[in-house]
Amino acid sequence: MSTTTLGGSYTFPGTSLTVNRMGYGAMQLAGPGVFGPPKDHDEAVAVLREAVAAGVNHIDTSDYYGPHVTNEIIREALHPYPAGLVIVTKLGARRPEDGSWQPWTSPQNLIDGVHDNLRHLGLDALDIVNYRVMGSGHGPSEGSISQQISTLADLKAEGLIRHIGVSNATHAQIVEAKTITPIVCVQNHYNLANRADDALVDDLARHGIAYVPFFPLGGFTPLQSSTLSSVAAKLGVTPMQVALAWLLHRSPNILLIPGTSSRAHLRENLAAAELTLCANVVAELDGIAATAHVAH
Ligand SMILES: NC(=O)c1ccc[n+]([C@@H]2O[C@H](COP(=O)([O-])OP(=O)(O)OC[C@H]3O[C@@H](n4cnc5c(N)ncnc54)[C@H](OP(=O)(O)O)[C@@H]3O)[C@@H](O)[C@H]2O)c1
Repeated sequence: MSTTTLGGSYTFPGTSLTVNRMGYGAMQLAGPGVFGPPKDHDEAVAVLREAVAAGVNHIDTSDYYGPHVTNEIIREALHPYPAGLVIVTKLGARRPEDGSWQPWTSPQNLIDGVHDNLRHLGLDALDIVNYRVMGSGHGPSEGSISQQISTLADLKAEGLIRHIGVSNATHAQIVEAKTITPIVCVQNHYNLANRADDALVDDLARHGIAYVPFFPLGGFTPLQSSTLSSVAAKLGVTPMQVALAWLLHRSPNILLIPGTSSRAHLRENLAAAELTLCANVVAELDGIAATAHVAH
């Protein structure tokens, strides 16, 4: 079993929830296109059990993965949940029969979504719920989210949600949300090649709020860069490990949730938390976002 430190621990602000910085994102456990059952159900269960056995105590999910599929696999693999396991879910979309991603944002949608997550995960309360702003595809776009955050705050007051975060959110939306309820984390698209949120990462760090990048490895289009490959070769590790180590190095408020459907990739990703990057290597990697030969 892995002996990695998983990047050290982090406590979400104003909470008693402490997690290792290297976590796990469950989206890859659903079928192709994040729709339907996984191609290898037993491997999906094994990935989750091995992650937790290795010390992962931060799992990201949503009831709209599948839909319901990843939550049901998490429950099958891990329920009753070990003490200290933090499961973070998200609301704001639904998946109709045609597999498309549709907004699901009315107060009743969000209330129903919380109950769906509770039922499928087998929980009485959800540790953290992110309101996922639909925005424009994988990118954020401006617009008030006060109604949705107020609804989640009401569900928190009822005891069904412990803490609230936002996802795919702009700076203005985060500021707006914070006027309604404490925001403990922001989950946005960010990685070595996509650094649009650089200033936001630093701003949240100053406020002690977690930044949890989605697509840390490039998501549906894995990161490819000659610089990344040559750095990895020099260090004797894989490009994906360097990409994850760079994120851990980038800022102490960054928590990782790389997604994988395979135990081999899981082990590789967890081991990345052991990698130390010297200043020269970080400078080289920092150049990637500016170069044209990166595909992302
Ligand atoms: N808030 C949002 O809007 C949002 C959006 C997307 C994702 N998320 C969350 O963020 C998590 C991470 O994002 P993601 O899973 O989409 O993307 P990701 O972690 O950037 O990349 C996952 C992809 O990389 C592959 N992979 C993983 N480890 C690898 C390795 N060591 N070597 C080579 N390939 C590897 C996976 O394939 P294999 O399965 O073959 O390993 C999968 O195709 C998700 O699981 C989900 O929980 C949130």
